[in-house]
Amino acid sequence: MELVSRMMEGSLPYDIGVVSESTEHDAPRRRDAKTDRLQAIPMFQACSQRQLTALARIAEVVEVPAGKVLARAGEAGQEFFLIMDGTAHVEVTPKKQVQLGPGAFFGEMSLIDGGPRSATVVAETPLRLLVINRRNFSTLLTEIPDLTLNLLEVLSKRVRQAERAVAP
Ligand code: CMP
Repeated sequence: MELVSRMMEGSLPYDIGVVSESTEHDAPRRRDAKTDRLQAIPMFQACSQRQLTALARIAEVVEVPAGKVLARAGEAGQEFFLIMDGTAHVEVTPKKQVQLGPGAFFGEMSLIDGGPRSATVVAETPLRLLVINRRNFSTLLTEIPDLTLNLLEVLSKRVRQAERAVAP
């Protein structure tokens, strides 16, 4: 079962301050607080208010404990993750692990090419994540076109790293 669905079910904790809906009346204030927090993420600092509002609508903030497997190599992937707090490790090969910290993202590859997860990603510490599902991922790139370049840069680095990891 997918992460966001489990969060919605209540079997995963999530950031009450960001996503809980106490009253209709509070909604604009909560959205402002969420856009403020999104703007504090370096990747979104250059975003306009309109872009941040669109992002706040499609992104969920999720908290997971250390040890949680967020992506498993070979399985289908449905979410894109951006680390807000904490660290995760990516098992690129059995011998090569990469640590990702605040501001780093993962899960983009399966959403871009529709293939299975290329690596297993595990929470090293408790994590606060921004999660965007497959359906909203293309909305994200349409709303914030500069992100595509950022994604391509990071993907190029990951390809180089992976090639170095398997080089004889
Ligand atoms: P995806 O294949 O969807 O799921 C596993 C994720 O691990 C992958 O997307 C990338 O986000 C991430 N990943 C794969 N290879 C590397 C790498 N060499 N360095 C950092 N992250 C990686």
